[in-house]
Amino acid sequence: MDVDLIERTLEIAGERGEDLTSRVYLRLFAAHPEMEALFIRDTNGSVRGEMLARVFEMILDFIDGRAYAAQMIQCEVVTHEGYGVPPEVFGIFFSTVADVLKESLGADWTADMDTAWQDLLGEMVWFSTHPDQTIEARVG
Ligand code: HEM
Repeated sequence: MDVDLIERTLEIAGERGEDLTSRVYLRLFAAHPEMEALFIRDTNGSVRGEMLARVFEMILDFIDGRAYAAQMIQCEVVTHEGYGVPPEVFGIFFSTVADVLKESLGADWTADMDTAWQDLLGEMVWFSTHPDQTIEARVG
């Protein structure tokens, strides 16, 4: 996975100062309307904002050192079961983040960036579909 390219996509999107939070959730709910209902208790959008901020921080750790990010994905899969969020949704959510970055970068998005993100998505999804940390400890 090309870490520099992933960082570059995040930097460019950051420099553009766009409201990525609205775009991520608009896109997610347009494609998966049933997911909007999960956020029923989030009356002012603060949970959505906080959640996406944590996801971006997690991605930065996932690609650079991975001190906690892999375990965080696994833990969140378990805690989110309590919110009625099925594990499969994590892959959809991560892909939506990548789609929004791609859309935000427009002509600056390259094929290599696309490959880097596909690699990253594949690795993150592995942890979301394998939340049992004892199994991860054995293979890792
Ligand atoms: C690694 C990925 C994720 C992380 C780090 C994460 C993080 C969080 C955090 C920190 C909160 C609590 C925010 C607060 O109370 O201030 C939260 C709540 C929530 N998350 Fe996530 N989340 C992730 C993935 C997902 C996915 C894929 C979905 C489904 C679309 C989802 C749906 C929700 C919902 C519905 C709540 C609110 C639950 C409630 O209190 O009613 N999360 N998430």
